Amino acid sequence: MGVRADGGSGRGGAPAILVFDSGVGGLSVLAEIRALLPAANLIFASDNAAFPYGTKTEAELLPRVSEVIDRLVARFTPDVVVVACNTASTLALPALRGRLGVPVVGVVPAIKPAAMQSRSGVIGLLATPATVRRPYTDNLIAAYAAECIVRRLGSAELVDLAERKLRGERIDRAVVSGLIAPLFEGELGGRLDTIVLACTHFPLLGEELRAAAPRALAWIDSAPAVARRVKAVLEERGRSGAAESPHPRGIAVFTAETPSVAALIPALRRVGLDETAYL
Ligand code: DGL
Repeated sequence: MGVRADGGSGRGGAPAILVFDSGVGGLSVLAEIRALLPAANLIFASDNAAFPYGTKTEAELLPRVSEVIDRLVARFTPDVVVVACNTASTLALPALRGRLGVPVVGVVPAIKPAAMQSRSGVIGLLATPATVRRPYTDNLIAAYAAECIVRRLGSAELVDLAERKLRGERIDRAVVSGLIAPLFEGELGGRLDTIVLACTHFPLLGEELRAAAPRALAWIDSAPAVARRVKAVLEERGRSGAAESPHPRGIAVFTAETPSVAALIPALRRVGLDETAYL
């Protein structure tokens, strides 16, 4: 089936998809890609050495993301790169697309579907502290939600909770309630009916977030749309490989060897990532 020793694929075999994030958030996107492309070889890459991204400056982050993705592409020769991180995508997508000779699919805040879906016109944007401040995010809101009120909340704590959950720790729902409470404050908070999960870590806390919200809301996760885009990109290139690879490979690559990686192994196995490597 043309699978190479390094985890990538030869051009004739099943496609190889590189899914990149600072941490485990990318797994929420990877699971959707696996569901849509069961025959693909998946390389999940976490830049855990530089985690978290959401509290770093643009000057720190841009060269870091470019350098790590360059090394991953050189080593795994993927057919497509998925930047499964809003914090990295809203900063680095133009630079990556300009430089890499591989298609790049980004994950950016799903403002447009949220604005289309909201009845009250009051939307919550739940992201990292960096993503809520990005000019890219301002532009999305101006382009697609000019008629709406968008209440932004940046939380590095929720990112950390998602990491803990995937390492098997119990999450205190009262803590989650406290963290998202500012979204629901005041008269506007009472009208808010839609929340954009604009950090790939947050769908991993879907259950806790729903339980913590004061009422039923629409929660927008862009992962299914991203998976469809990945499939379309591969099809455009004749690389969807639907009938191939009865035993697709799944490899998780980390930039630092830490005890946290060992604690993540059960969560990695659950999404078919049976091998672990270091960059
Ligand atoms: N998962 C990343 C995102 O979608 C950010 C997590 C972090 O702060 O490193 O924004």
